[in-house]
Amino acid sequence: MTRTVLVVGSGIAGLTAARHAREAGHDVLLVTKRRLEDGCTVRAQGGIGGTVFPDDSVASHVHDTLVAGAGHCDPEAVQVLCESGAESIHELAREGVQFDTDEFGQWCRGLEGAHSIARIVHAGGDATGARIHEALVTAARRAGVRFLEHRMLRELIVRDGRAVGARFSKLVPIAEPVEVQDVFAEPVEVLALEADAVILATGGYGGLYPFTTNPDSATGDGIVIAARAGAELADLEFMQFHPTVLAVGEPFLISEAVRGEGATLVDETGYRFMLDIDPRAELAPRDIVARAIAAQGMPGSPGAGESPSRSQSSREAAYRGVPLDTACGLLEERSPISREAAYRGAEGSGRGAFLDATQLGRDFLASRFPTIDAALKARGLDWSREPIPVQPAAHFAMGGISTDLWGKTTVPGLYAVGEVARTGVHGANRLASNSLLEGAVFGARVALAIGMDANPSSSSSRAAAYRDVPLDTACGLLGDRRSPLDTACGLLGDRDGRLAERGAEEPNEPFSRAALQQLMWRNAGLIRTAEGLGEAEQRIHHWQTTANPQDPEDQNLLELAALVTQAALQRTESKGAHFRADATTANTTLAPTH
Ligand code: SIN
Repeated sequence: MTRTVLVVGSGIAGLTAARHAREAGHDVLLVTKRRLEDGCTVRAQGGIGGTVFPDDSVASHVHDTLVAGAGHCDPEAVQVLCESGAESIHELAREGVQFDTDEFGQWCRGLEGAHSIARIVHAGGDATGARIHEALVTAARRAGVRFLEHRMLRELIVRDGRAVGARFSKLVPIAEPVEVQDVFAEPVEVLALEADAVILATGGYGGLYPFTTNPDSATGDGIVIAARAGAELADLEFMQFHPTVLAVGEPFLISEAVRGEGATLVDETGYRFMLDIDPRAELAPRDIVARAIAAQGMPGSPGAGESPSRSQSSREAAYRGVPLDTACGLLEERSPISREAAYRGAEGSGRGAFLDATQLGRDFLASRFPTIDAALKARGLDWSREPIPVQPAAHFAMGGISTDLWGKTTVPGLYAVGEVARTGVHGANRLASNSLLEGAVFGARVALAIGMDANPSSSSSRAAAYRDVPLDTACGLLGDRRSPLDTACGLLGDRDGRLAERGAEEPNEPFSRAALQQLMWRNAGLIRTAEGLGEAEQRIHHWQTTANPQDPEDQNLLELAALVTQAALQRTESKGAHFRADATTANTTLAPTH
């Protein structure tokens, strides 16, 4: 039966879901907040991992994913991801992605952290995401998916407990409405679209932090809006910080694949500190490498638009009052590190960490990593001659909207896929190259699930309905936002009481996105304590009750900050990317076996 399907988000997950749904005969409209290419997918460098080589196995990929995930993955979800990975990668190739090949015409094999074998395929050297995105947009257009750009998701339409559509507002003037002029002849302020199924593929929330690999549009909209509609969330405390982001100028990702090719991490004296931290050295799971780099000293709270620089780096800034032995002790938990070595690594020089790729040679760097090479050149850096300063930055949200193995959320009619979803495949720390894979695998599955949904909404026989509604009416629906969200998430339940007990001070800094990001970086970033999180919670609560941000992205970020902080407070152990320097109990982690 033909169904109307509304997909929100235009990364690999949204595009895959849209195309598969369309090819299954459904009427599909994909709406995105900015331009189709403005999300995270296009920025993905390293590649996509799956078992496409004969000496690899699903069991090995599963093992690596579980180890990286620090014992917090859903094994069934991981099995699905890894079992379906090869087919998804071959499908991308069929859709026109030209993965890089060697002199024998075989796909080149990349290695990244925590993989026990080189299984990552890449395209355009380090432009994998951009090449995949291009191919998927073409495939979706060919299949007949309609697109609408520059519309921001504002609210889900829920009727009798079922998601039956969504409302969008115009984020910026639509310069060139694409593909759908026939449907949307007149630009409208708020658009209500009804559909049998709504698929959220809106990505994560790196925008909660001032230093991130994500575009500034990554404001967690889908997560907050799904929660307002009653969807269950999970694992919001797990934000992955990518270890190696350029620490001068605008944050720029330096792919883990560079370390996979042999680049090392050194302190300012050239000392290779990762050898002291983990036997896998630079290719240990990301959370371990990121904390080790932070321990070398990094900017504490770069402001918006302010470039972090080495001069800002300080040992104190990295730890913000966390006792050194506590912080180092937690590095021991997942790797056999001596306390003495941990101190040496953690004390470092306070001048930061550097990625040394000089041994790879100018020609190799330029041909294998053309995007990074050009970006560094544009910043006046020559990485073939000297190590470049790096630091961790917010990269990927492991948590999000809870889904089953088919992308179904707890709200009938509502599906979530890609980074916005919490499928359980990433646990507490995502394995490198599994994010593109998740989008491809679960994007296809969610489209299948829609076809199998036995209870579509009453609009099933109609084309996607739409109508104009005044902006204030739609916004009014968001008026009582905090209450339903609190209830839906069950995370903020006793917040007010505890704040009162602590005798909240009157924080005087006015709300701004930059102030919120700095607060989160300092208090809910790589290294967390109950005290720091409590302060953040108090400040966020103050802003929620006194500030009235007009920008819907700011509204979403503020609500998300409350949820992330609360989740981080509730998890008193350290696990994967969630590092509680004040944790007293050891958590269960998987030891590397090879
Ligand atoms: C990278 O290229 O280092 C990022 C890839 C990923 O996040 O999986």
